[in-house]
Amino acid sequence: MSVKQVLIFDSGIGGLSVFERVIKQSPAIKYFYLFDNAYFPYGELKPDFLIQRLMSLLSSFVGRHKIDLIVIACNSASTVALQYLRGHFSIPIVGVVPAIKPATFLTKNGVIGLLATPATINGAYTARLIDEFAAGKQVLKIGSTQLVKLAELKLQGKLIQQADMESVLAAWLILEKMPDTIVLGCTHFPLLKAEIARCFKHKINLVDSGNAIAQRVTQLLGKGGMAEIKNTHQAYFTKVYQPDEGANFNALQRSFLAYGFNSLQLYI
Ligand code: DGL
Repeated sequence: MSVKQVLIFDSGIGGLSVFERVIKQSPAIKYFYLFDNAYFPYGELKPDFLIQRLMSLLSSFVGRHKIDLIVIACNSASTVALQYLRGHFSIPIVGVVPAIKPATFLTKNGVIGLLATPATINGAYTARLIDEFAAGKQVLKIGSTQLVKLAELKLQGKLIQQADMESVLAAWLILEKMPDTIVLGCTHFPLLKAEIARCFKHKINLVDSGNAIAQRVTQLLGKGGMAEIKNTHQAYFTKVYQPDEGANFNALQRSFLAYGFNSLQLYI
């Protein structure tokens, strides 16, 4: 049996929070990670443009590598484009959407915070999720690209200032009845879990969809093959990092290495 190959896709490093759960449950798969930093941040793109971009980039990648399954490890892309991508590709596509439903079981005070990108916060898909699953709960929303950028910086080795975190969450931190449960509706945000939790004086439930995605991949592909695959996972990005934009590519490369990838290269 040949080894299965899975593509994990995001606009940036957020998909790594999904990848680490997926590889834990399905270790006998070869993973490709592709991120579209050329059009980052996805949370600020127009839906039509994003759909076109996803179609062309993913078609190109799948045309060059034999991929058995794609994980769209990006809420902004999944909530906008999942149905189009599934209609277009014949391989299974697993997407990620905000974990509203599990949050409703965890909240004790009935106040749920949804932290996501502006696209996910304003999208019709998210509105439907809230209507369907969170009736009777209060759902407070913050859409932030700043937080996405902070997660990117963290993986480039930068220290994240608590004040920057608190300014993103400011609208919730002044409330008398703050959320006791926060849905991390962007795959970048689980990478900032500790920093988010530190902003609150009380214990807070932070919920994401990583494990649900991992379960779905295992359901569809099983464990992949017989033996754990190591040292062959490859990561690609779509635009060269410019030092004068303050990017630290070497530190980013080290982060990908630490996640188990043996290369990080430009996709051309
Ligand atoms: N990681 C992505 C998400 O889950 C998007 C970040 C962005 O590019 O805005 O929504």
